[in-house]
Amino acid sequence: TDGPARVVIDLDLPGATISRHLYGHFAEHLGRCIYGGFYVGEDSEIPNTRGIRDDVVEALRALHIPNLRWPGGCFADDYHWRDGIGPREDRPRMVNSHWGDIVEDNSFGTHEFMDLVELLGTEAYVNGNVGSGTVAEMSDWIEYLTRADDSPMASLRRENGRDEPWTVPFFGIGNEAWGCGGNMRAEDYAALARQYATYVRDHGGNRVTRIAAGANVDDYAWTEALMRAATNLERRDGAAGPYQAISLHYYTMTGPWEDKGDATDFSDEEWYLTLSRAARAEELVARHATVMDHYDPHKKVGLVFDEWGTWWNVEPGTNPGFLYQQNTVRDALVAGIHFDGFHRHADRLLMANIAQTVNVLQAMILTDPESGALVLTPTYHVFAMNAAHQDARALAAHVLLPEEVTEVDGRPLPRVSASASLREEEDAALVSLSNLDASAPRTLVLDLRGREVTGHEATVLTGASTAAHNTPEQPDAVAPAPLTDVREHERGLEITLPPHSFATVRLQLG
Ligand code: AHR
Repeated sequence: TDGPARVVIDLDLPGATISRHLYGHFAEHLGRCIYGGFYVGEDSEIPNTRGIRDDVVEALRALHIPNLRWPGGCFADDYHWRDGIGPREDRPRMVNSHWGDIVEDNSFGTHEFMDLVELLGTEAYVNGNVGSGTVAEMSDWIEYLTRADDSPMASLRRENGRDEPWTVPFFGIGNEAWGCGGNMRAEDYAALARQYATYVRDHGGNRVTRIAAGANVDDYAWTEALMRAATNLERRDGAAGPYQAISLHYYTMTGPWEDKGDATDFSDEEWYLTLSRAARAEELVARHATVMDHYDPHKKVGLVFDEWGTWWNVEPGTNPGFLYQQNTVRDALVAGIHFDGFHRHADRLLMANIAQTVNVLQAMILTDPESGALVLTPTYHVFAMNAAHQDARALAAHVLLPEEVTEVDGRPLPRVSASASLREEEDAALVSLSNLDASAPRTLVLDLRGREVTGHEATVLTGASTAAHNTPEQPDAVAPAPLTDVREHERGLEITLPPHSFATVRLQLG
């Protein structure tokens, strides 16, 4: 189009509700995510509540995190929940064979996790073990967690100090069954998923969404096999069955598996390659959703993107099995791009979980192993700035650019990414904008139609370079700041975004 870039939004045409669960999280027994990240033990000098770090809880409460997935990941299919209950000194040990081949002492188990969930004010997504666990073990776990009466498992929970049952709305039927979760073929796993899910019962008032272990990246045949198996059965309560959702995993990286790229040392070429690969996430969601539409046009079965984010080479000198990486402005824009795509597919996407919350992969929080100092990452700030999209209604945001859009890695990469949502009850809208250009600012017009706009408040997140990041010495090198370059325009607002930046604009509507 001619003229400046435009982002056109019809404020009076709300679409699907963006589930708050698209802003979900993931905490695995991996590296320093649980131990040292969330959990330091009661005797730690770091302020804690029953061993759980107070500063981590406080930082995550500010994000309103809607759910937390645990205990894995690959760890989930090695995990036997009975090892993690009862007096800590009596708990058996195990080998965490996937992540550093270290010995796990099971000091953080079911009670500690549910305590964390309660401290965070979030909801539990417990991932069960299909790869090396039994149907009875899975059945007992949900009974232990959620049953109120004097059943065997409810009584055992009480013996371990918890009277009231917990609420567990989400339960994973294994993880990555095509790989670390058992190296299964799609049809074989689909049969097991039906069987295991059957025994993950709704006890009392607890209603579980059972999530079958879904596809790796673009394995559409896997999704198809699970969909074929899912819609054969109708549960008595009318929900689709025997599982109500199917997952998807996809990570953004620039290199091959053996050399995924560095978190902080990258060229402009790698910058654009990263952002293009982040944009692939939406393509994958769209294509898996299309497969699901064929079997389930009324969208009873949800898509759960329960592992997403960047996966870089570990920081020099750290354990290769611990997946500890820095987090820059580039990671922030990867998150912004994912959320824009998620909002556009809110009709099928039930949940998404970034991997992982603390000290692992694309984390919100990094903690120093020596001093314990906590740093909030650029990705944390994107979650904070986007929080008002949770449970709002998606609005289409059409990006019209004056320049020709070029391809990167075989896919068009517009240099602006955007999405928007409406909170009807507050007469407010939120617009998210990313300037993907590594070095040029971008002036754009927010072309706002259908409702009167009576006020605005804009916030921007950027850093001195594309690789800017936060450290204990410089915790605010990348931090949100008011965006002042906003002017009234005959069509709405004219905004200038700095290079490599993410911004949000809150609109008050008349
Ligand atoms: O998030 C790290 C690992 O990535 C998970 O354990 C596994 O599910 C995936 O391969």
